[in-house]
Amino acid sequence: MAQDRIATRRKKLISQLKAQHLDALLVTSVTNVRYLTGFTGDSSWLLIGPKLCVLISDGRYRTQIEEECPGLEAVIRAVDEKMSARAAAELASAKATRVGFEQDVLTIGLYDTISTASKTLELVPTQGAVEQLRQVKDSEEIAEIRIAIGLAERAFAAHRATLRPDLTEREIAHGLEHTIRGLGGVGAAFPPIVAVGDRAALPHYRAGALRVGQSGLLLVDWGAVSAGGYHSDLTRVIVTSKLSPKLEQVYGVVLKAQLAAIAEMGPGVSSRKVDSAARSVIESAGFGKYFSHGLGHGIGLEIHEAPRMSPQGETTLQPGMVITVEPGIYLPGVGGVRIEDDVLITRDGAEVLTSVPKSWESCRVDFV
Ligand code: GLY
Ligand code: MN
Ligand code: MN
Repeated sequence: MAQDRIATRRKKLISQLKAQHLDALLVTSVTNVRYLTGFTGDSSWLLIGPKLCVLISDGRYRTQIEEECPGLEAVIRAVDEKMSARAAAELASAKATRVGFEQDVLTIGLYDTISTASKTLELVPTQGAVEQLRQVKDSEEIAEIRIAIGLAERAFAAHRATLRPDLTEREIAHGLEHTIRGLGGVGAAFPPIVAVGDRAALPHYRAGALRVGQSGLLLVDWGAVSAGGYHSDLTRVIVTSKLSPKLEQVYGVVLKAQLAAIAEMGPGVSSRKVDSAARSVIESAGFGKYFSHGLGHGIGLEIHEAPRMSPQGETTLQPGMVITVEPGIYLPGVGGVRIEDDVLITRDGAEVLTSVPKSWESCRVDFV
């Protein structure tokens, strides 16, 4: 990965730390360490501040760090040395005393071991410092997300074209992941949700043993991880035989809600307002209580990341954010509909990056 991009991220973070009068930030989130160093392993901490930048790892990762992080200072702790003791020693030698930590990541156990290792440290809780930077993607990150979308879309097209009534939810989920890997992706972005019939009313259903032919309704929520570690996330409904007029009506409402939200998106718009654009369509149609989750979330190195679009969303959208838009209506015992696309905020609006057709007519699939 280009080191200058990573250096830019570190510079931005260091300005924030200075503003908070922190000598350093102890980064323990695996994803945040990756974002700030390019290192794709785990079990490693980054100490970063105006006067230090050091990755602490262990002997398993020596060569990988040399290869992935040229120019980065790395300390390989001894086998009998605790990570917390090494971190405390590095902070002491850099004369860093007021040190931030990631309050949503560091466990109480590790907090205690660091405090015990150094009596002079003032550990300051911080929240979302790196996550906030990660919200806005640079051009190479956007290119990676486009690759992740391409992988997911090609896999879906292949399985849609070869759908048989005897296939189980689990077989389709496995097939999607297998195809993504075969196309060069790291794998599925999460275990694909493949839900037959009334199971589609469970937003986070796990693919099971139901067969596609048992109902005319199939919901598929899937995504891919690109070789560079970026995620995509889509949902489509497949209709294999005539559905009740109620489900067709529900599909129309969800699609209308999704298009209303996308039309609202652009720089300077509040994430709450986008959520509300979709939610009000669903509420006006009388299904408000069946839309039981937020409208969407950022995607990037993780499948769910900032910003969140929900009634509590407090983010102002900015160019470079890539966010899912995924309204749904879930009718217990009947079925559910969710339509999910990935949207890039641009300088003058929004670009829908995903391209799987979603008109009602396009949902219809004949078995092979
Ligand atoms: N696949 C989970 C989600 O759409 O957020
Ligand atoms: Mn999804
Ligand atoms: Mn999603």
